[in-house]
Amino acid sequence: MNLILMGLPGAGKGTQAEDIVAKYKIPHISTGDIFRAAISNKTDLGLKAKQYIDKGNLVPDDVTCGIVKERLSKDDTKIGYMLDGFPRTIDQANSLEDITSELDNKLDAVINIDVDPDVLVERLSGRFICKNCGATYHKIYKMPKVNDTCDICGGHEFYQRSDDKPETVKNRLDVNIKMNTPLIDFYKQKGLLYTVDGNQNIDDVKKDIDKILQRF
Ligand code: AP5
Ligand code: MG
Repeated sequence: MNLILMGLPGAGKGTQAEDIVAKYKIPHISTGDIFRAAISNKTDLGLKAKQYIDKGNLVPDDVTCGIVKERLSKDDTKIGYMLDGFPRTIDQANSLEDITSELDNKLDAVINIDVDPDVLVERLSGRFICKNCGATYHKIYKMPKVNDTCDICGGHEFYQRSDDKPETVKNRLDVNIKMNTPLIDFYKQKGLLYTVDGNQNIDDVKKDIDKILQRF
C-alpha cells in the first residue's frame, strides 16, 4: 500500500500515521521528521533546512525531492510506504510522479485530513512530544494515560517543537493554506483523493481512515 497523508499543520498527520504504520507495517516517511533529525544532528542538510523551518517557510523543492527520492529507493519501501507532509507543492507532486514511475512504486491513495484552519493554532500550541520516542500528545486532546509518562516508551521527558511558537505558526499556516488547494485538485483529478473530516476526535478520524484503507 503506497500512501500519502496530507493536511495542514496540526491536522493530525503524525498522530494518525503512528497508528497506520503500526497496523500496516509500512515505513512512515515524514519530511518534517527527516529535517528535524538532520537539524538535531547538525548535518549540512539540517543547517540548510533550519533557516526555512524556523521561519515557517517551505524548504526548497530540490532539497526536499532529493531526500524523498533517496528514501523511497530503500528496500523497505517495496512493501509499501506512507508519506507524511510530502508533497506540498505541485512541483513536488510532479517530481513524486517521476520518482514513483522510475521506482515502479506508484501511489494507491492520497488521504487528506481536512480541518477547519481556525482550530489549528490551538492544536499546535497544545502539542508536546516525547523526547525519547517522538510520540505526540496534546495538553487537552491527548494526554498520556499516566501523568508525565509516555504511553509508548515510558519516557518522562517531553518537548515542544520550536516551529510551534505563535510567531512561526501563523506563517506556517499561511504558507500551507496557499499550497493546499492546488494539491487537492491535482490528486482529485487523478482519482486518488480521499478526504476525511479531521475536525472529529482522534479516534473517529482513525476509524474513517481505516474504512478507506480496508479497500486496498
Ligand atoms: P512537518 O513536521 O510536516 O509539520 P506540519 O506539516 O506543519 O505538520 P505538523 O507535524 O505540525 O502537524 P500534524 O498534521 O502532523 O499534526 P499532529 O498529528 O502532530 O513539517 C515541518 C516543517 O518542515 C515545515 O513547516 C517545512 O518548513 C518543512 N517541510 C516539511 N515537509 C516539507 C515539504 N514537503 N516541502 C517543503 N518543506 C517541508 O497533531 C497536532 C496536535 O493536535 C497534537 O498535539 C495532537 O495530539 C493533536 N491532534 C491530532 N489530531 C487531533 C484531533 N482529531 N482532535 C484533537 N487534537 C488532535
Ligand atoms: Mg507531523
